[in-house]
Amino acid sequence: MVGSNSPSGSPGETPKPNSDAIPHPDNDSAIEAVTQRVQDSLSLGKKHKFWETQPVGQFRDLGDTSLPEGPIEQPTPLSEVKQEPYNLPSPYEWTTCDIDNEDTCIEVYNLLTNNYVEDDENMFRFNYSREFLRWALRPPGYFKSWHIGVRVKVSKKLVAFITGVPARIRVRDDVVKMTEINFLCVHKKLRSKRLAPVMIKEVTRRVHLENIWQAAYTAGVVIPTPIATCQYWHRSLNPKKLIDVGFSRLGARMTMSRTIKLYKLPESTTTPGFRKMELRDVPAVTRLLRNYLSQFAVAPDFDENDVEHWLLPKENVVDSYLVESPDTREITDFCSFYTLPSSILGNQNYSTLKAAYSYYNVSTQTPLLQLINDALIVAKHNDYDVFNALDIMHNESILKELKFGPGDGQLHYYLYNYRMSNALKPSELGLVLL
Ligand SMILES: CC(C)(COP(=O)(O)OP(=O)(O)OC[C@H]1O[C@@H](n2cnc3c(N)ncnc32)[C@H](O)[C@@H]1OP(=O)(O)O)[C@@H](O)C(=O)NCCC(=O)NCCS
Repeated sequence: MVGSNSPSGSPGETPKPNSDAIPHPDNDSAIEAVTQRVQDSLSLGKKHKFWETQPVGQFRDLGDTSLPEGPIEQPTPLSEVKQEPYNLPSPYEWTTCDIDNEDTCIEVYNLLTNNYVEDDENMFRFNYSREFLRWALRPPGYFKSWHIGVRVKVSKKLVAFITGVPARIRVRDDVVKMTEINFLCVHKKLRSKRLAPVMIKEVTRRVHLENIWQAAYTAGVVIPTPIATCQYWHRSLNPKKLIDVGFSRLGARMTMSRTIKLYKLPESTTTPGFRKMELRDVPAVTRLLRNYLSQFAVAPDFDENDVEHWLLPKENVVDSYLVESPDTREITDFCSFYTLPSSILGNQNYSTLKAAYSYYNVSTQTPLLQLINDALIVAKHNDYDVFNALDIMHNESILKELKFGPGDGQLHYYLYNYRMSNALKPSELGLVLL
């Protein structure tokens, strides 16, 4: 916590293990920590009818050091991969969503806007933009067949969605071809009918058909078995709005004007040579980033094509800045964030929370604190209400001093068909999933 002036709590004081990355600052009192541990141990005891059948780390194997790290099941010959889709309940049919098609993109956008992740109090819901979805789903080498929808046969209404995109992810010394699974969503009216396991099996099948056997994903829920458990932190940029919409609360003994003053930022960035990344910077940024990410146990293995796709600025989707040394012209530091608004549910005055999410940052010459402070300044200048960051990589070292407050949800990282001997600390993770 940032003294008594940080966001002191969300509207509910209980931890929210079910909220995914929806920001929701809360206090990190001892009681909450204990509650979290109790909830975690309860979820370890829970039955997982689906996940217990899958090649993932199982809770019963926790602490068994005889099990080797690495793939759990070996690949099968492609001819042995099931050739036809899994069966859906009879009213529904599979569809491949062509996200290049404007109408399809709008259908996906509408499904997610109305049915995707909410915080536990149902005050906010992720509102990924259409441009964001096109960006997230079309990285180099993407497969259209991995953008999977479910429609009602009769009406053709899109009612569920799941996606994969290819990625090379390094786990310790091994670079593994994986898929990053994201945007799992079932329409609110079709929940708890075991549709999600069918969707997960179907995307897995289509991934296998491309001879890929591992996956990475994150979730707010505990399922077998997280490789790491991380926390979101939130830096108020527009504290009045955040308080007005119930995202954060006025701290004890704080007035609105003192709170606004507390979070005030300079008008312009402070680091000499700080500028937006351009296409010509791709080789230098790739070198910088590859070198930096090599220190983490799990991190993407980015080449120049990946960096061009994932990190070249795209308006209202991803922003990247770097430090070009005024003396040597060398690119020494880098920071980036992506744009993910949330719908504010049922507020008279506001409909959208504009949030920036810290993405990849590299500090070699500029202290990380100063670099991220400049990112905050840019974000504030561009009208973001809040800047969110996970406690992964080196982020933890700067969060408190930059007046981030801890959120109340946790984000669990998972690998499919890849066992880790021990859970990683957030600081050992060098991977950000959208
Ligand atoms: C997540 C969601 C698709 C699950 O669908 P559902 O109708 O609630 O659940 P179903 O009855 O179809 O399936 C339940 C199974 O899916 C698993 N499951 C639920 N959420 C999951 C997730 N986020 N990732 C992986 N598996 C998940 C459950 O653990 C359960 O399996 P188990 O019995 O082995 O534990 C749905 O709740 C939803 O759309 N929620 C809002 C969006 C969201 O949270 N998406 C996930 C983002 S990580």
